[in-house]
Amino acid sequence: MGGEATLVETTDEEREGMRTVRLRVPARAEYVALARLALSGLADILTLPDELLADLKLALTEAVSNSVRHAYAGGAGFVSIAYELTGDALAVEVVDDGKGFDPERPPPLEGEELTEGGLGISIIRTIADEFELHSRPGVRGSRLRFVKRLRQPV
Ligand SMILES: Nc1ncnc2c1ncn2[C@@H]1O[C@H](COP(=O)(O)OP(=O)(O)OP(=O)(O)O)[C@@H](O)[C@H]1O
Ligand SMILES: [Mg+2]
Repeated sequence: MGGEATLVETTDEEREGMRTVRLRVPARAEYVALARLALSGLADILTLPDELLADLKLALTEAVSNSVRHAYAGGAGFVSIAYELTGDALAVEVVDDGKGFDPERPPPLEGEELTEGGLGISIIRTIADEFELHSRPGVRGSRLRFVKRLRQPV
């Protein structure tokens, strides 16, 4: 644990025409930029518009930052990020093996309560076309997944 090695792996899931790029980084703030860089690289390959890339980067940053800041309570750990290209969408999955939490406790999207607690999860939900968050307090791990539809086939 706590090692600085990173692993980047590209796989071709031919059956579903899905392409997935995986990145696993130490749960440290300085690696959030690496996750963003991978997204920029993919956006180049896909020729995504700047505005879409900016939205994706914001959502990704919030998701990875949560795993970095909240999952391991100052201890060492890793965050895994999968970038999945399917048809006309990009799905991003951010997984940690941290302490887990109650996803119902972060503020829901409906207005007033936004002042309570943080904004990260609400931002991701606003940007994403689909959103899933799986975690339970007292059970290790968290898996956040969001899907953004692209206005073009990829
Ligand atoms: N991966 C995670 N592991 C453990 N707890 C998490 C994780 N992600 C989120 N949380 C919990 O959910 C809360 C809400 O997250 P959210 O990103 O919405 O706000 P924040 O991180 O507190 O603040 P902000 O994102 O605005 O800086 C966090 O404060 C934290 O308690
Ligand atoms: Mg946050």
